[in-house]
Amino acid sequence: MTDVEGRRYLDLLAGYSALNFGHGNRRLIDAAKAQLERVTLTSRAFHHDRFADFCTRLAELCGKEAVLPMNTGAEAVETAVKTARKWGYEVKGVPDGHAKIVVAANNFHGRTTTVVSFSTDHEARDHFGPYTPGFEIVPYGDLTALEAAVTENTVAVLLEPIQGEAGVLVPPAGYLPGCGS
Ligand SMILES: Cc1ncc(COP(=O)(O)O)c(C=O)c1O
Repeated sequence: MTDVEGRRYLDLLAGYSALNFGHGNRRLIDAAKAQLERVTLTSRAFHHDRFADFCTRLAELCGKEAVLPMNTGAEAVETAVKTARKWGYEVKGVPDGHAKIVVAANNFHGRTTTVVSFSTDHEARDHFGPYTPGFEIVPYGDLTALEAAVTENTVAVLLEPIQGEAGVLVPPAGYLPGCGS
């Protein structure tokens, strides 16, 4: 890549994982152009020949039963929050309105109003309230604190496998497997 001042860079950042194929990937640009010339966008109210195939192949690749394509990471997190809460009420039997999700301090999950409700970053959160309730914040990397925060109303634990905005924090060995048990 070359910036506006002529400095040259090796493209290694990959847009925080959103552009893992690199800047200006020729195959992707060609595929996108060909699609744009054919049909640009349809509402999800309409079927077309790309969506089902895309979902099927992505689900197979990830080993999942279903996928939900979203535009942003924040939307993905919002959907995870909704899905966990609904599961809590309809499957786990949590009393309506009482679901709790345990999150880590210094997290970054996006900038929507619900997501900043459980941020501890003043810049991301301050003066955007009133905030969405239902989140318990514990220190990142501390399994004891996490276990103590889990109650019968807990419907999910939401964590970054490696915290990014907090400073690229890799959790202690055993933390992530421990979160699932
Ligand atoms: C861990 C994590 N979750 C969510 C997001 C939000 O993604 P978006 O900016 O696409 O909403 C980011 C963005 O950097 C992120 O790093």
